[in-house]
Amino acid sequence: MAGYVLSLDQGTTSSRSILFDQDGRQVALSQKPFKQYFPQSGWVEHDAVEIWETQLATMQEVLSKAGITEKDLAAIGITNQRETVVVWDRKSGMPICHAIVWQDRRTSDLCRQMKDAGLEPALSSITGLKIDPYFSATKVQWILDHEVGARSKADRGELCMGTIDSWLIWNLTDGARHVTDATNACRTLLYNLHSGEWDEDLLKEFMIPESMLPEIVDSSGTMGEWNGVPIAGIAGDQQAALFGQGCYEPGSAKNTYGTGCFMLMNTGERAVVSENQLLTTVAWQVAGKREYALEGSVFIAGALFQWLRDGLELVEDVREFDQLAGSVENSGGVVLVPAFAGLGAPHWDPFARGTMMGLSRGVTKAHVCRAAMEAVSFQSAELLECMERDAGMKMTELRVDGGASVSNLLMQTQANLIQRNVVRPKQVETTAFGAAALAGLGVGLWESKQAISEVWQEDKRFAPGDDHEGYAKLRKDWDKAVERCKAWVD
Ligand code: G3P
Repeated sequence: MAGYVLSLDQGTTSSRSILFDQDGRQVALSQKPFKQYFPQSGWVEHDAVEIWETQLATMQEVLSKAGITEKDLAAIGITNQRETVVVWDRKSGMPICHAIVWQDRRTSDLCRQMKDAGLEPALSSITGLKIDPYFSATKVQWILDHEVGARSKADRGELCMGTIDSWLIWNLTDGARHVTDATNACRTLLYNLHSGEWDEDLLKEFMIPESMLPEIVDSSGTMGEWNGVPIAGIAGDQQAALFGQGCYEPGSAKNTYGTGCFMLMNTGERAVVSENQLLTTVAWQVAGKREYALEGSVFIAGALFQWLRDGLELVEDVREFDQLAGSVENSGGVVLVPAFAGLGAPHWDPFARGTMMGLSRGVTKAHVCRAAMEAVSFQSAELLECMERDAGMKMTELRVDGGASVSNLLMQTQANLIQRNVVRPKQVETTAFGAAALAGLGVGLWESKQAISEVWQEDKRFAPGDDHEGYAKLRKDWDKAVERCKAWVD
């Protein structure tokens, strides 16, 4: 059997293709950023055609970098930004408008009305989610209500909808397959977590015709082909990272520092209902069997560093953050709450907006960089506390990955503020590796999860510091600032 697995990692700001060999080693990588559209305050859109074109270009580039062809590929795995939705014409295969991105807040009012009508408890018990603009359903509803002619076309069965995995597979298979996997389906607010199917009542509630929806398939196993190569793995990026981190046992957890920050804890075959504002999500579905996870979703993490670089132009390169933030003892009293897209778990306030408090004349950009590191770490600290309360157990360590996890100062700050060991693996591309692993498992390149977990290797362990009084004071200030940024916009 050909020995390479090609992982397509379609993220919020770039499309990437990463090639892995049979030992799970990264052989080559290609990455292409694409345009972000912000047509109005709180709105975030992508051009789905550009997503597909950049993805395809990275696939071609990575093969040529490695000097191989499709014939050398055993399988393709796909992982993607979740919740973002594309609506396209079944016949032409063209999107009818821009994709609405997971960070988009345009349906906040609609969500508020649904909450005020008391719908949240019932919806949560079916889906494991909250009523929030984050999830796909209200975004699709918005498209059907605002794009001219969309609703009647949808009623006639002429439109398809899908998260980014569906859109990529549709294009990779020339429109032959309209599928999604359970980890992506469960982020739409249309999926019944317990039956593993689209939920008829929810489809009625959101007025979305069933004919638009993709077929739900396993996360591992052949579900289509591209140029003769089996597409054999699909998972939303956070679930793929959980898989790639080898978190197969209930109680094991990871935190990914990407555009946002997402902490997931495996809960095995039990869909644990959160009493602390977390989400219940499908971790993966293999051979028809679902395993679940508790998830804490924070919308802005790496995006905060990007904003400080590109928006405020505080630094030229993200690598300067460690240097600057490390040049001061503390944040000089500055507290930064990056609620740019509202607040996710555990606050769930789409009307919150970012704030920077505690400014005084002595504050420099170094203090602001330090405050940014603390902000990312505090957001995760809140998630960890909720997770431990829900699971009724203490986490022994937190596995970390994603772009910003390469920062030693950020990881040390994280360990200090959660008072747990933070463990970074050698392979921080765990999202892409997770999708490759699901695909490799699907075609028998790897026999079992055990074989995959042997690929995992520790790079560095960050032990918590002991300035308990100092951490407690920072936490008090953080909690105060978070409360002040809530319900900012109407
Ligand atoms: O739920 C949104 C998430 O999937 C986006 O991930 O890696 O683009 O921050 P990322």
